[in-house]
Amino acid sequence: MRLSVLKETVATEPRVSASVDTVKRYVSLGADVVVSSGAGLASGIGDGDYEGAGASVVADNAAAVAGADIVLGVRRPEAGALAGVKPGALVISIADPYGHEAELEALAKAGVSAFAMELMPRITRAQVMDVLSSQANLAGYRAVIDASAEFGRAFPMMMTAAGTVPAARVFVMGAGVAGLQAIATARRLGAVVSATDVRPAAKEQVESLGAKFIAVEDEEFKQAETAGGYAKAMSAEYQAKQAALTASHIAKQDIVITTALIPGRPAPKLVSSEMVASMKPGSILVDLAVERGGNVAGAVAGEVVTTANGARIVGYLNVPGRLAATASQLYAKNLYAFVETLVDKGTKSLGVKWDDELVKATLLTKDGAVVHPGFKPQGAGDAASAA
Ligand code: NAI
Repeated sequence: MRLSVLKETVATEPRVSASVDTVKRYVSLGADVVVSSGAGLASGIGDGDYEGAGASVVADNAAAVAGADIVLGVRRPEAGALAGVKPGALVISIADPYGHEAELEALAKAGVSAFAMELMPRITRAQVMDVLSSQANLAGYRAVIDASAEFGRAFPMMMTAAGTVPAARVFVMGAGVAGLQAIATARRLGAVVSATDVRPAAKEQVESLGAKFIAVEDEEFKQAETAGGYAKAMSAEYQAKQAALTASHIAKQDIVITTALIPGRPAPKLVSSEMVASMKPGSILVDLAVERGGNVAGAVAGEVVTTANGARIVGYLNVPGRLAATASQLYAKNLYAFVETLVDKGTKSLGVKWDDELVKATLLTKDGAVVHPGFKPQGAGDAASAA
């Protein structure tokens, strides 16, 4: 059983899909681990480290992919990176399938069984495989660090001989995994923290971290959570009420961190240009949803924008990648936990249980076709179950 670790081909992706620890574990599972040279460098893992863990290092992705039974990546491999892959190979990554039908077709044509780690069900057994959580947690932490780096003031209240410095006021919008870590991090740095979310369950979590919860708590709010624990898209009426409440709050904040997402949809617009304009010069907004269209008006993907009133909107891409070594370590562990379920430990070969709920939820392509009900081309059957 040959398992290959790709070097990411997107220039903005410093993460890697295997760590020294997971390579050792794959070797114990009976895998021949092959790593594309330089794959781990941007995450602080050298070729020699992988070799020390029992992997062989090959010149490039083509050499890594040749003959592989399992191919690991961070991002969905670009078509070129899979040239020469064995039909039936398992290709596992954060595949970003929404809106990328052509790319899924290309994976299907390559004959591989492609899996999207971010579609992993959020059930207890799969918690250790939850890449959304492992990466969002780091993004939430990093958002606060990035905000503090841009902010021209201190976070904690300081009483000094030269005078008292007030604590920074931080407002976190969206209190899921990223938002809760942002709250905890800002609190640790000494800020006065408030937060909002449309899921009622978030209120208690926000308050348990010592932050104040700010939301319109009407009937719609009380119903606003899916069985999977995700946010629903809210009505225009609710959004207007929430916007009015948050507008007056935002005007008094030094830092706003937005993390609001709804799976498979563009990010909700939460901070209007008027709200941005109401903030004091030197205020900072960090938009963690910028890759999905952004929560903040005027946020630009990959840039720090200074507004006319002297606020700054931080729109870094791939925020978990700004902590590449930690993000890779956790992502690699998520992957290992899943791969372990796809291997027959007795025969030390692939043993995918195609009817396992984890496999069914994450499998995008198989035997030349897109098979996931959420992404099958129209008319390919099963339309009724399409998400
Ligand atoms: P996410 O990344 O999809 O969204 C981030 C946050 O934005 C969510 O809390 C969402 O409610 C909020 N949001 C969406 N629209 C909003 C709006 N208009 N205004 C304000 N906030 C808005 O969510 P994430 O972080 O992946 O977590 C979603 C839920 O899943 C949470 O309850 C989390 O605790 C839960 N979860 C459960 C796990 C498990 O059971 N194994 C593992 C990880 C998370």
